[in-house]
Amino acid sequence: MAAAASSPSPPAVITCRAAVAWGPGQALVMEDVEVAPPGPLEIRVKVVSTSICRSDVTQWQSTAQPDLFPRIFGHEASGSVSQSLSPFAFTAHTIHNADSLTPEVRRVVESVGEGVTEFQVGDHALTVFIGECMSCKHCVSGKSNMCQTLGLERKGVMHSDQTTRFSIGGKPVYHYCAVSSFSEYAVVHSGCAVKVSPTMPMDRICLLSCGASAGLGAAWNVADVSKGSSVVIFGLGTVGLSVAQGAKLRGASKIIGVDTNPAKQEKGKAFGVTDFINPAELNEPVQQVVKRLTDGGADYSFECVGDTGVVSTALQSCSDGWGLTVTLGVPKAKPEVSAHYGLLLSGRTLKGSLFGGWRPKTDIPLLVEKYANKVIWKIVAEPNVL
Ligand SMILES: NC(=O)c1ccc[n+]([C@@H]2O[C@H](COP(=O)([O-])OP(=O)(O)OC[C@H]3O[C@@H](n4cnc5c(N)ncnc54)[C@H](O)[C@@H]3O)[C@@H](O)[C@H]2O)c1
Ligand SMILES: [Zn+2]
Ligand SMILES: [Zn+2]
Repeated sequence: MAAAASSPSPPAVITCRAAVAWGPGQALVMEDVEVAPPGPLEIRVKVVSTSICRSDVTQWQSTAQPDLFPRIFGHEASGSVSQSLSPFAFTAHTIHNADSLTPEVRRVVESVGEGVTEFQVGDHALTVFIGECMSCKHCVSGKSNMCQTLGLERKGVMHSDQTTRFSIGGKPVYHYCAVSSFSEYAVVHSGCAVKVSPTMPMDRICLLSCGASAGLGAAWNVADVSKGSSVVIFGLGTVGLSVAQGAKLRGASKIIGVDTNPAKQEKGKAFGVTDFINPAELNEPVQQVVKRLTDGGADYSFECVGDTGVVSTALQSCSDGWGLTVTLGVPKAKPEVSAHYGLLLSGRTLKGSLFGGWRPKTDIPLLVEKYANKVIWKIVAEPNVL
């Protein structure tokens, strides 16, 4: 369906407010930015709720791509397609990390580009940092979410034409993960968006756009945590707490949370953590404590910090014979993982995953349904826990 069928007039450039980073690690500045109309197969969304994911912070601080500034970060969000401009509001959401900035924004489809049939103006949507084209080798495989057409975008541009939809005074402003939700309006590829019911609370479900889904998927799809098993989770931010919730729902009997922030002990409990270790308070290696608590090593370990040294520790903390380590973190430095080969020869497995292995269009509606049915996020929905 062409845009004209759903919109009374063709979409025009919108000028709106956005939080712009002018250089690596530089404070975000609220600026007026121009947002171009959506191109073919793209939609423009009014961002209603967004969170700050640790990956936004890591990339913002990174000096590896200094040419990709000015840039608009943000990728964990929900919104709607509406014709009117309305005020932008960040609301604090502390599930992520008590120490970090954690605003939230929602998204609604504002206008649709040529060839878009799935979305109409007014639809509510989640945007996702990886898409699902439904036709590439990975999408048709049924066993991968690494879409070859709409995969993780690292060059600060849109997948389709390698240009930006944001500008200031006509000069390009780069995207992040082809989402850039720290803006009142953003253009995303329709293959990177998931339609959701307008009855869903956007300030909650926007976490399904990245961190919460990544953690739940790591526990369910990647590790396939079994009933009665032991689990150790390094890092109790959105990702780690969601792994804990996923493990609890699978019936894991011991869920050990490891975090350098003592405040995560209480938070962890609310998500199913049964034992808490603060490595900063130990005078022995953390893996030694985990082995003691689990009779030789956990069945599953998860790295949710973004530190490859912690990946090695996680591998050392799981059982020989069958122990599985899942790494989710995006490291700030030292990207190589090192491990003694004996850890692998003795039967441990190291795996990683993006977005918990979920295929956005195929799987995320099911997660939203689980939220609606209070299967997941029972606890997150209680404001006092946040
Ligand atoms: N693979 C994916 O799809 C995916 C999705 C979202 C986020 N991530 C990455 O996962 C990681 C976690 O993301 P988040 O948003 O939950 O981050 P977060 O910052 O909210 O949480 C990280 C937690 O780790 C703790 N921590 C820091 N150093 C530690 C250490 N040495 N030992 C134990 N705990 C430590 C912090 O106190 C914090 O509670 C980040 O690297 C992020 O970039 C990956
Ligand atoms: Zn993220
Ligand atoms: Zn694909």
